[in-house]
Amino acid sequence: MNNLEHEIGRRRTFAIISHPDAGKTTLSEKFLLYGGAIAQAGAVKGKKSARHAVSDWMEIEKQRGISVTSSVMQFQYNNYCINILDTPGHQDFSEDTYRTLMAADSAVMVIDASKGVENQTRKLFKVCAMRHIPIFTFINKMDRESKNPFDLIDEIENELGMPTYPVNWPISSGKDFRGVYDRRKRHIISFEATGGHHQVAATEVDLSDPSLSELIGEENRASIMEDIELLDGASDEFDLKAVHEGRLSPVFFGSALTNFGVEPFLENFLEMTPPPLARKTAEGEIDPFDKNFSAFVFKIQANMNKAHRDRLTFMRICSGKFDREMEVYHVQSGKKMRLSQPQQLMAQDREIISEAYAGDIIGVFDPGIFSIGDTVCAVGKKFEFEGIPTFAPEHFQRVYPKDTMKRKQFVKGVTQIAQEGAIQIFHEPDTGMEEVIVGVVGVLQFDVFDYRMKNEYNVDLVKTGLPYSYIRWIENKDIDPKTLKISSDTKLVQDFKGNYLLLFTSEWNIRWALEKNEGLVLSEFSRGDLQ
Ligand code: G4P
Repeated sequence: MNNLEHEIGRRRTFAIISHPDAGKTTLSEKFLLYGGAIAQAGAVKGKKSARHAVSDWMEIEKQRGISVTSSVMQFQYNNYCINILDTPGHQDFSEDTYRTLMAADSAVMVIDASKGVENQTRKLFKVCAMRHIPIFTFINKMDRESKNPFDLIDEIENELGMPTYPVNWPISSGKDFRGVYDRRKRHIISFEATGGHHQVAATEVDLSDPSLSELIGEENRASIMEDIELLDGASDEFDLKAVHEGRLSPVFFGSALTNFGVEPFLENFLEMTPPPLARKTAEGEIDPFDKNFSAFVFKIQANMNKAHRDRLTFMRICSGKFDREMEVYHVQSGKKMRLSQPQQLMAQDREIISEAYAGDIIGVFDPGIFSIGDTVCAVGKKFEFEGIPTFAPEHFQRVYPKDTMKRKQFVKGVTQIAQEGAIQIFHEPDTGMEEVIVGVVGVLQFDVFDYRMKNEYNVDLVKTGLPYSYIRWIENKDIDPKTLKISSDTKLVQDFKGNYLLLFTSEWNIRWALEKNEGLVLSEFSRGDLQ
């Protein structure tokens, strides 16, 4: 095996997803601790008073205690080089999560054992299932009263629409939590709270060991034996191929806060999750082990550092090795270039890197040329990775600057924030950018937009809510959209590429428009075109 194969083969790149408060930050922090990337717990997230992770760089995230943007962290564990893509937990930012998932080879879903699959996690589950990437579930907070584990498994299977394989099984929960049964090794790892809430001792005991009753109590021993019988009889066989194809989801129980079950989870997960996967282009798949460098842009973030007023573009390397000195080809602009200040992030710390491999995520300084979904490859090659479709926005506002003198900053801010994919922008036919219609998937995106316009571009906005909830792109190129028969509460708009769209207040109105205009073709997606 040459060095390139060795380096790529040891990469594992996954997204971590959860409903807010399920324990995603705590679990990631424990991973980093095992990997020696941070020295102590709390480095990622402080106490309530400073309730933010170091990955939450935006002011608004700190104030609200929610994660708005995704971030990337790299660490080494055993012989693996691991890239964790953190995602915003709130459903209003699920579009960002979706784009992040495009850059990952698998996903870890963290679920609060007392709550099960929560409303806001549903959409994320669907997004994962849609991409057919391997999904691993960590059922967290077993040191608290939990729902019945069989019910939790049922819920997950129903939401994911696929079978699960519990890799371990809990012995009771809350005050009575005694540990887990490891189904593959067929032994018990017992949980004993020592030195208070944050520390536990774990002992491994064989099922047939006579000391087991003493360790976990006779009642618990009897009930775990019953559960094992049920599980072995009822659940699907473990099938690694099915896991890799996103047809079977391994499930683990544990407690991130007390550090119980985290390391076994990490070890099993790293063994089961695939190395960098091949990526699709119109010309066929690109093999990650191909020596030619290629990457695609999945995220753009301006003004991450207020002092620098910079714009970073995040790329997932899909094949080969990246070298800082190399020239690359940006397919969409047709330009050759050197990527400027390539860096990897460890939360707020950035480190300039000189090389990176397929599976890695690099951030590069962007003078404003990249868009989401763009392909960068070795000079002499030319192909485009599959686009990243946008979600149809469901909420709309008409927006203009309070102070007409601020028009220039307004246009700059709105355009840049739209390029990042944080909002989508439209306008009425034949009008310019004096006033735009902003569309978002979740209403909290409006707040972030408003806040960023004020803080980063110094523009106060006048906003009016619009009653539309549905958007459809007009696919027909041979009709004049202005002659369409539409109901009085339907609006014709354009995106900034000049495409025509219709905004509707109800599905009934969509049907009405289709009935009254024979041959009209409407589409819910912009076919990977982000503005
Ligand atoms: P998130 O990133 O998914 O939003 O969740 P986060 O890790 O911030 O965890 C949310 C809360 O749940 C935190 O408590 C955290 O300590 C707690 N938690 C995480 N894992 C476990 C677990 O296994 N068991 C128990 N009992 N609690 C857990 P907090 O009080 O909101 O914050 P803090 O004061 O601990 O920082």
